[in-house]
Amino acid sequence: MLNIVLFGPPGAGKGTQAENIKEHYQLIHLSTGDIFRKNISESTDLGKLAKSFIDKGELVPDEVTIQMLESEVNKFSDSNGFIFDGFPRTTQQADALDTYLHSIGTEVTKMVALNVPEEELVKRLLNRGKESGRTDDQNEDIITNRIQVYEKNTAVLADFYQAQSKFENVNGVGTVDEVMNRIFSAIDN
Ligand code: AP5
Ligand code: MG
Repeated sequence: MLNIVLFGPPGAGKGTQAENIKEHYQLIHLSTGDIFRKNISESTDLGKLAKSFIDKGELVPDEVTIQMLESEVNKFSDSNGFIFDGFPRTTQQADALDTYLHSIGTEVTKMVALNVPEEELVKRLLNRGKESGRTDDQNEDIITNRIQVYEKNTAVLADFYQAQSKFENVNGVGTVDEVMNRIFSAIDN
């Protein structure tokens, strides 16, 4: 299995590039944000819980998120592998992912981190917020909070994967195709 953790701050291009990676390597794309938003639109209990965190730009609690992710992986156990987009976001999630993947006889192959300066992130998200309807793109305070939560809880995972020699840093500024080709090189490297 090829299992890619696609990493980077809010607006770095994870969702955009996950679609390209999925096509190229025939993988299953799992975005925890997308799964939460689907649950919100269907008004499930999980959606109601997640909404209260997402609307503020805070993280949904680890326990709920980990359980949800594992049940998604389980649905596609005969696939070529996965792109994890927006997961893991905490050390507890990263530990849980390692343990779970080992239990099914596989592991994270690489973590690809998209690097984009904060000014560009805010610009991209405010721009998307004009049309996307995403509640967390609607004002700069929520966007800034998402970036701060990333710095505080998530950025440290670069060290987690570096310690396993799985970390690949990619410049996320440029056209979508330019960034895509850098990602393919990082994965094939
Ligand atoms: P999530 O849905 O993961 O959102 P995010 O990480 O904040 O990031 P985005 O999805 O906004 O950005 P992206 O990196 O995917 O970029 P995109 O391709 O869209 O999480 C949302 C919330 O859910 C979290 O805040 C949290 O509450 C909760 N959550 C999710 N996962 C969780 C977890 N594991 N644990 C706990 N809570 C969790 O691109 C952004 C924009 O830029 C688009 O408009 C795009 O068209 C544009 N763009 C893309 N590439 C380029 C480029 N090269 N040049 C110019 N523009 C570009
Ligand atoms: Mg996304």
